[in-house]
Amino acid sequence: MYKVYLVGYMGSGKSAIGRRLSFALKLPYYDMDKEIEKQMNMSISEIFATYGEEYFRDLETKFLKEFRDEQCIISTGGGVAMREENRRIMKRTGLVFHLCASFPFIWVRIAKDKRRPIVQRSTKEELESLYYYRRKYYFQAAHINIKTDGMTLRQVTETLA
Ligand code: S3P
Repeated sequence: MYKVYLVGYMGSGKSAIGRRLSFALKLPYYDMDKEIEKQMNMSISEIFATYGEEYFRDLETKFLKEFRDEQCIISTGGGVAMREENRRIMKRTGLVFHLCASFPFIWVRIAKDKRRPIVQRSTKEELESLYYYRRKYYFQAAHINIKTDGMTLRQVTETLA
């Protein structure tokens, strides 16, 4: 049995879907950001502010390399699919789903976010360009792409399960 990885932009519903899928498939669920926060005993924003973004990116790769639980659902952070090495590890060790929502749907979910450092430091236009820049990497990372616009969390979970 594989790991199941959920990839996609911030606000694409990876954590909410991951929790539901874990319940539906009776597999443990891990949110990569939360696991990194636990290991570091710091929030993602604190890690960015103290050590910088590249350090956080290295922690993401370290997590993918070292995580041992074989049968589980993992929701990844929105930047994980950017590194070729990360894409390779995920493809080799699991089944990768890309939750693909268009930017207006994403924006509604992240506009008021106070937690994500990238949202905090960027304008709407910057977040939209980052979205288009990153899209190709999510497609490269994934075995299966699911267009989620207009779907409820339940409908997306049923499609994946
Ligand atoms: C990031 C997305 C966040 C988190 C960090 C950086 C990104 O995860 O890993 O704030 O670069 O897109 P979510 O996609 O779960 O918000």
